[in-house]
Amino acid sequence: MQVAIDFGLTNVDVVAMQNADARQIAQMAMIPSQRKVDVAQVRRALAALNREAGDFERICVTGGQHRRLPDQIDGTPVVKVGEIEAIGFGGLHLARREMPDLSEALIVSAGSGTAMIAVRNGSAQHVTGSAVGGGTLLGLCKLLIGTTDPHEINRLALAGDSNKVDITLIEATGGAIGRLPADANAVNFGRAATLEWADVAREDMAAGVAVLVGQVIAIIAINAARAERLEQIVVVGHLVDLACMRRVLDTVAGYYGARIMIPSLPGYATAIGALLH
Ligand SMILES: Nc1ncnc2c1ncn2[C@@H]1O[C@H](COP(=O)(O)OP(=O)(O)O)[C@@H](O)[C@H]1O
Ligand SMILES: [Mg+2]
Repeated sequence: MQVAIDFGLTNVDVVAMQNADARQIAQMAMIPSQRKVDVAQVRRALAALNREAGDFERICVTGGQHRRLPDQIDGTPVVKVGEIEAIGFGGLHLARREMPDLSEALIVSAGSGTAMIAVRNGSAQHVTGSAVGGGTLLGLCKLLIGTTDPHEINRLALAGDSNKVDITLIEATGGAIGRLPADANAVNFGRAATLEWADVAREDMAAGVAVLVGQVIAIIAINAARAERLEQIVVVGHLVDLACMRRVLDTVAGYYGARIMIPSLPGYATAIGALLH
């Protein structure tokens, strides 16, 4: 049995498999990150699977400062995998379970922040990214509506209307522009600086933050994929566990005729990629 641990800024993901064939995930878990990477944190991650180091033939690690870990723990080798490769190959692997013919893609890691990786011909290269990501969603929601609970934010955002906080195209220009429909937004949170701003519901605020974060990620991804001549965008990371975020990505993909897919188990892509490497 093999295990991989992805040390993220927000979450630590652990995936165990019987063999290197990632179709057979034996166990997985996500635990809150304590923001440091040492042997104690490896043990804590394995404990989330009710296991210890000696249960595995090897422990693959990626993310955070995983390079500081020793080369073995209790006699089990620790294999260090670069995060770019882990995201890229893990994302492509998950996507290929649903799209077997896919051979190359822009893999977008939507985690605390956002990284975009081109995977083709067996190589993974960092293309671009954004400091706007899942951490921005939680941070702005804390400031605006007093919660950092992703499930609560998701519920509120799905019930809210982002056009209560944004200025729409119809208001800004009187109608549609190019591929954008009239009810698309022109200015994220633009209403907050106008006289029309009053009694905005928590739901609308959450929806506005979700739209802001999702649009930044989707637009950068679409332009990066075009620049890289990659037709398929694959979004992974725990941010897209949230339905409110998947909805925004779908809407933006629709505006621009882009191909954005979110595989199942998106939050585990990086750990799975570390196992496969
Ligand atoms: N149950 C959850 N716990 C924490 N964050 C979650 C959860 N579900 C969704 N998220 C979102 O996922 C983001 C973190 O994504 P993740 O892929 O774990 O990033 P990282 O690898 O940087 O830790 C959070 O900022 C949050 O917006
Ligand atoms: Mg992660």
